[in-house]
Amino acid sequence: MNRALPAVRLRVPTHEDAFAWHRVFDDPEVMEFHGGRSAELSVYEELTARQRRHDAELGFCLWTMTDEAGRVIGFTGAQPWAPDWGPRGEIEIGWRLGRAHWGKGYVTAAAHMTLGRLRAAGVPKVVAMVRPGNERSVAVTRRLGMDLAETFPHPRLPEEALCFRLDLRGSTTIDYTE
Ligand SMILES: CC(C)(COP(=O)(O)OP(=O)(O)OC[C@H]1O[C@@H](n2cnc3c(N)ncnc32)[C@H](O)[C@@H]1OP(=O)(O)O)[C@@H](O)C(=O)NCCC(=O)NCCS
Repeated sequence: MNRALPAVRLRVPTHEDAFAWHRVFDDPEVMEFHGGRSAELSVYEELTARQRRHDAELGFCLWTMTDEAGRVIGFTGAQPWAPDWGPRGEIEIGWRLGRAHWGKGYVTAAAHMTLGRLRAAGVPKVVAMVRPGNERSVAVTRRLGMDLAETFPHPRLPEEALCFRLDLRGSTTIDYTE
């Protein structure tokens, strides 16, 4: 891929960002693989508060993503995998983008930035957990050079969750300057 990546900024989510995430993700296409319908504002209030704790304790989190004009367009970043199934003990990278901003490379740009920050923080490897059928998300993992490492039976759904993994010690990604 030789196209220039769009300019994107990542910041620790503020409390106000909970309102922005709620608004930007209020779309059935965005939520197709996250329960199928929009989440309550309280979900994003808890999620953004948790990310501030991760930032304070770990130095990374799911960051609010803003575009060239400073508008909130979604989140990308990393957090410890929390459920009691799947890749326990590992660091998960994740992304969610408002529907109006798909197809422009924003998440690829933000994910490369995330990997750079995680390497600098000494994180040795990351996983990305993707539901089967979420082809756009699988395509992001491919752009990052991730491999499908294993699958985990989903505890509540009749499907296998796809676990992509990337070793950050040996791999390099494109040189992307923040
Ligand atoms: C998964 C998701 C973030 C992918 O968004 P996306 O815009 O397709 O991903 P990217 O930011 O990597 O952009 C890639 C697209 O931009 C295009 N693009 C333009 N310039 C580009 C560039 N310089 N580099 C890479 N891609 C570029 C690509 O061609 C591709 O579009 P296409 O698939 O229509 O060809 C988005 O679909 C989403 O938020 N889904 C809902 C939430 C979700 O499922 N999250 C993941 C849970 S595991």
